[in-house]
Amino acid sequence: MEHQFDFLVIGSGIAGLSFALRAARHGTVAIVTKKDKLETSTNYAQGGIASVLGRDDSFPLHIEDTLNAGDGLCHPDIVEHVVRSGPDRIRELADYGVPFNRSPIEGLEFDLGREGGHSRNRIVHAHDMTGQAVEKALVHAAENNSNIHIYENHLALDLIVEHFAIKAGSIAVRHRDVCWGAYILETPRMELHTFLAHAVVLCTGGAGKVYLYTSNPDVATGDGLAMAYRAGACLANLEFVQFHPTCLYHPHAKNFLISEAVRGEGGRLIDRRGKAFMEKYHPLKDLAFRDIVARAIDTEMKQSGDDCVFLDITHRDPDYLKTRFPNIYQKCLLLGIDITRDPIPVVPAAHYICGGIVTDGFGRTTLENLYAVGECACTGLHGANRLASNSLLEAMVFAHESALHCAEHIQQWRKRPVPEIPACPLPMAHLNSTQSEMVLIAHNWDIIRRLMWNYVGIVRTDKRLELALTHIRQIRMEIREHLPNIPLSNDLVELQDLALVAELIIRCAIQRKESRGLHYNLDHPRKDDVAWRQDTIVRRRQVEDPRGVVGATNNLQT
Ligand code: SIN
Repeated sequence: MEHQFDFLVIGSGIAGLSFALRAARHGTVAIVTKKDKLETSTNYAQGGIASVLGRDDSFPLHIEDTLNAGDGLCHPDIVEHVVRSGPDRIRELADYGVPFNRSPIEGLEFDLGREGGHSRNRIVHAHDMTGQAVEKALVHAAENNSNIHIYENHLALDLIVEHFAIKAGSIAVRHRDVCWGAYILETPRMELHTFLAHAVVLCTGGAGKVYLYTSNPDVATGDGLAMAYRAGACLANLEFVQFHPTCLYHPHAKNFLISEAVRGEGGRLIDRRGKAFMEKYHPLKDLAFRDIVARAIDTEMKQSGDDCVFLDITHRDPDYLKTRFPNIYQKCLLLGIDITRDPIPVVPAAHYICGGIVTDGFGRTTLENLYAVGECACTGLHGANRLASNSLLEAMVFAHESALHCAEHIQQWRKRPVPEIPACPLPMAHLNSTQSEMVLIAHNWDIIRRLMWNYVGIVRTDKRLELALTHIRQIRMEIREHLPNIPLSNDLVELQDLALVAELIIRCAIQRKESRGLHYNLDHPRKDDVAWRQDTIVRRRQVEDPRGVVGATNNLQT
């Protein structure tokens, strides 16, 4: 079935919803999301949104903290723009009805928490469930907007891109790629759809599921990164994977984060014997940047052989803890841990990918009419390491900028002739396949996630990265060989995307011969500002076709 909208948004987290709400003032918007509309990484964000709203705070301080975290790779113009836009975007969210905690101090609008790397209290929050509060308010607004149509259980397979090679004589000197929409699979009905739009906005979030242990929900399989790469867009800095230092360590806790705000309220990391260890690693101790805290925990665990360390906040008033962290308190209690009395067992886990699809100040990718916003984008804000709670801020700012940019151009875009769009190149055999080799999917998911955790984790070496590349290429080949025997499913599509993203992360990590921010390689332990103060770019070789052929790279063939 074919659908035509002005704007196609892929993903229903804060980035997609914020874009849609602004763009809907100028045209029709389809939001496609692969599961339930609330099943997004935004929904699980606990800490909050960083913004300059405190009396002792200033834009230069937030800018400086962001640049320090980014370890030389942030784009300063982008940092400045995002930080300065923060207060307006926060007030917009409050106007949508997000119930941020208000400050008891007269003259101060919001209660402001502290997280690692911040020199001031500046985290606006809704208790410890900020993301959920934001998601609910924005979904409510989107559902009540007649220009926005939300399609749940619609999984994006690939982008529809028109490729032009601009030639001088017989040599292609430049390429032009124009995005016209996406092929979408409706599940569980397994119906294929073609969504056409004047602008497509990837808001597909991160790729935490590429690692064995992650704070991310199951949907974080890097689909947007994989689709953009296959379509020929530039991606950058994928080696900078942020490991959150404190995920709950318990056999029955899946992906549960213990917010950095707990350390912001005085929580201390201790070992099994009760000894605090962060002073050995950094003067800021438990509130050092995340890469430092995660590496310190990794070192402690490797030295002691223990399975976890502990986060102790038992010195704070129990009633205060129950009100400040109701979600964490309840979740831990259900698992037999009373955070007012017991130290919380924690381990680091993959949390956020700082790199992504390269975008400019308007959220534009290197393909015409394709935008990327949120975790899937690489705007230049985070550099080599993201400052805590800067991600929801970034998503809101670039959703705003890209929607304004689209609004300016939509009249002109509507006049363009739409090329003939071919049917989705998906081999129909997959839709009708009755053979069942589902074990291939489960097995390869598991292998990829272990491989990435063991060889491409918090501490890397050249040898491990080379081994990882060899293995991931074999795995991708095996998947391709066995495809005809596997019926089409979400898991299969996600496996393909995840395997590709894993390979891209490894390739970026191999390229960077230094240690900086979140990329730590024992064979190159120092930062090299002469050779490596630059982004790591990966891009698929161009499809060379002078005729301007419209097509999509087939997810199930790459
Ligand atoms: C947290 O609550 O610790 C997560 C905040 C973030 O990742 O920015």
